[in-house]
Amino acid sequence: MRREKIILDVDPGHDDAIAILLAARADNLDLRGITVVAGNQILEKTLNNTLNIVNYADLKVPVYKGMAKPLVRKQVTAGHIHGESGLDGPDFPSLTLEAEKKHAVDFIIDEALKAEEGITLVPVGPLTNIAAAILLKPEIKDKINRIVMMGGAYGLGNRTPAAEFNIYADAEAADIIFKSGIDITMVGLDLTFQAQAYPEIIDRISKIGNKVTDLVVELLEFFGSTYQDFYGLKAGPLHDVCAVAKLIDDDVFTTRKMHVDIETDSSLTYGRTVCDYYDVTGKKKNAEVALDLNKEKFWDLLCDILGHYN
Ligand code: BDR
Ligand code: CA
Repeated sequence: MRREKIILDVDPGHDDAIAILLAARADNLDLRGITVVAGNQILEKTLNNTLNIVNYADLKVPVYKGMAKPLVRKQVTAGHIHGESGLDGPDFPSLTLEAEKKHAVDFIIDEALKAEEGITLVPVGPLTNIAAAILLKPEIKDKINRIVMMGGAYGLGNRTPAAEFNIYADAEAADIIFKSGIDITMVGLDLTFQAQAYPEIIDRISKIGNKVTDLVVELLEFFGSTYQDFYGLKAGPLHDVCAVAKLIDDDVFTTRKMHVDIETDSSLTYGRTVCDYYDVTGKKKNAEVALDLNKEKFWDLLCDILGHYN
């Protein structure tokens, strides 16, 4: 089987943590490294959370520390959803694992340049690391086969009425990505809200009964409670996991190609992904935007792969 080379760019984050666990165990993915960005919390915390996940699940994947601040805008975080640590809920064993010395942005550049058949980038946090890599070394655009990213929405926002968190947290970076000419799959809130982990799903995961699913259950319980408190929803949506699932099984959700622009100027709609669903502008279509989730396939795929852990 040809394994797709990927770099997963994260800001854990409960759903990021589960996305890591999924990507690391998928047979058709070759996870070259995990790059970490500030987002759900400040960089020191998102890095610590990433190392905790990698250490806990004993993943043999290098971790790289990336950008601590957005390119231009003032930093925002999401402690109201992911807690003070960025990954509140579970307790982890004491940590000795460290990040690699190389900067995440250099790793992305080097790995792309050396990938003979190209590489896939999977950012599931703010797009700062990816944009910085493209700004520093524009040649890598020819080596990036596709970017499958979690962020944006053609419908409602979650950080503001107009904007999704990852794009809002660094819209200038997102603007660079969407103007880059690279093949983009945008996995937005319209899709990810179809992947809510209701109690029956948590129960199904719990019954798998290994060390990793025990952790996933704790993550889902905390995440579900903040989604209930903050948004009045009955369960937490596994946003970032949807992007990884698409790489594992292309049929897990449908997409529609459209032109997407990023709003960077407006105080009311900063960070909006302006999606030309009906092609009213006739502008070149630059993204496959996620539409409908095959829920059965999604949960089967997740449970199957989590079941491969001991
Ligand atoms: C995105 O924001 C973060 O809180 C999640 O990890 C996800 O990447 C959803 O808007
Ligand atoms: Ca995330």
